[in-house]
This record gives sequence, C-alpha cells and structure tokens, in this order.
Amino acid sequence: MPFQDDSRGDEEKLNPSEGHLLLGEDSYSADEHVKHQPVRHWRQGLRPFHVHGILIFLYSVLYVALVIPTALRTVPGRDPEEPPEAGHIPLPSREALIWEKRRFPTDITDNPLAGDPRPELDEAWHRLLLNDNILVPKDYLDELNLTSIYTRDGLHGVASLSVYHCLHCLKKVKRMLFKEHYHKGKSEEAMAREAKHVDHCVEYIREALMCQPDLSLVTFRWINNTAQHEDKSAFYPTNFDVSMHTCARWEPLDEWAGGRRFNLFDVDLLQRPQPDGHT
Ligand SMILES: *[C@@H]1O[C@H](CO)[C@@H](O)[C@H](O)[C@H]1NC(C)=O
Ligand SMILES: *[C@@H]1O[C@H](CO)[C@@H](O)[C@H](O)[C@H]1NC(C)=O
Repeated sequence: MPFQDDSRGDEEKLNPSEGHLLLGEDSYSADEHVKHQPVRHWRQGLRPFHVHGILIFLYSVLYVALVIPTALRTVPGRDPEEPPEAGHIPLPSREALIWEKRRFPTDITDNPLAGDPRPELDEAWHRLLLNDNILVPKDYLDELNLTSIYTRDGLHGVASLSVYHCLHCLKKVKRMLFKEHYHKGKSEEAMAREAKHVDHCVEYIREALMCQPDLSLVTFRWINNTAQHEDKSAFYPTNFDVSMHTCARWEPLDEWAGGRRFNLFDVDLLQRPQPDGHT
C-alpha cells in the first residue's frame, strides 16, 4: 500500500467485518480447472486413424457430457471459464471464520467507536486495529505470487488482511471528520498529504464494499422530526436497517490475526535495505 503510516493494529469485538458465504467458493475454482484438463489431453493425443485417439475421443465426449455438468452444478453461479482466483479471503484465515446471522445495531449514542474525539474513542479504534499487521509464511505468499517485506530468517512476510486495511481507512476518514482535533497545527502541505490519504481510503473502502456485496435489505420508514429536513412535522421516507446480515464473527478472526501480529515498528526484525554507504 502506498499509504501505511498507521502500523498499529487492533483487536476488538465491536465492529463486524462484513463477509459472505459465497467467498468460500473461490477455493473450488482451481479444482474446476484441473477437471478440464482431460479435454486438453484429448486434443493433444488425437491422431488421425489412431484407435487410441478415437477411444480417448469417446471417453472425452462422455466426460464432457457427464462429469463437467455435475462439477458445474456443485458450484452454482460460477463461470467455468473464469481464471482461478486466489480467493478474496486468504486461505489461512478461513479457518477463523465463523458465520452467523445478526443485525447491525448502528448505535451512535452508546458506542465507544462512535461520536466525538475522546480518549475512549481513540482507545476503541486503536484496539480495533491492533492486529492489522501480521506475519504470514513466505511459502504462502509465494503460492499467491505476492511479494512483501520479510523477516531476517526469510521465513515470513508482513501482510494485512484486507478487512484491517479497510478499518484503518475508516479510521483515517473519521479523523478527517474531526481534523481540528486530529490534525491540529499541521501545515498545508501535510494536510494535502492527509487529504490524498483519505481519498485513497474512501476508494479502498468503496472497492471492498463492492467486492463483498452485502445483499440484505435496508427498508424504509416514515419519520417526522428528521434532522435533515426543515419541516419537522412532515413525514419523510427514511432508511431503516432491520434485516439480518450474514456476518463473520469478529472475535475469532481477530484472535487468528492476533496470534500472528507483527509490530511494523520492529523494523530491525526485518531484512531492511541499507542506505548507500552503510554496511
Ligand atoms: C507473478 O508476478 C510477477 C510480477 O510480480 C509477474 O511477472 C508474473 O506474471 C506473475 N505470475 C503469475 C503466474 O501470476
Ligand atoms: C411526529 O409524529 C408523531 C406521531 O404522529 C407525533 O406525535 C409528533 O408530534 C410528531 N412530531 C412533530 C415534531 O411533528
């Protein structure tokens, strides 16, 4: 990430990370492509007037007719031509995902994560991000064709689960809302950097929301005395979120990350490039 000034993570139970059962299906896509391979073999093996070729051809026809439709049926809604994906949720953390149905309390009055700047709010957001940087085996990163920065022994790379990067970004947005408090006395130049960072963050959160669409329904109610409208007696349609959401429980996921937490201030534990002239 181009912006990474917030190397502290968090751990906390409050805010749910959104998730969807559909994501688990990504793990099947690789197998699907393995199943396609006999078709490829058939193409390579077929020679004109060759008995084996014809037999393989017949097998392949049977395979295409019987096996592939079955395979596709077990993975509804996936385009078999899609390239295999690594999956939106890193494999090791899937073991930490426990799904439940719940409502969003969206409590802005009695919630340490909401409201004006105060020590309780800062502490709650700090705890939420405590585990944002973790160590993952280098082998796993290699498997995903990802590079990162590595520990001195070369066995681990530093990474963040995307949900933590979203939370980090949300924190940046929240801090910009109260910039007189959080960015007091900063130069114009520093504020321009902050503004760019927040723009990056809004974009990242947008991408994450659209990546894992929460399709539960937010309904409407007639509400009078609304904050947004001048006429306090008139009733206006107002969003009201009463649906059940399919959510991953936050604690097990955060515990999983907590067990792998890495403090980015421990730069000496990493293979750190030296500036020219140093040894
Ligand atoms: C792996 O990443 C490198 C660059 O980081 C890229 O050139 C290469 O095509 C990637 N390979 C695969 C299989 O994705
Ligand atoms: C809003 O509607 C309720 C129920 O009809 C009514 O009792 C209340 O006086 C209304 N409030 C305002 C500000 O008009």
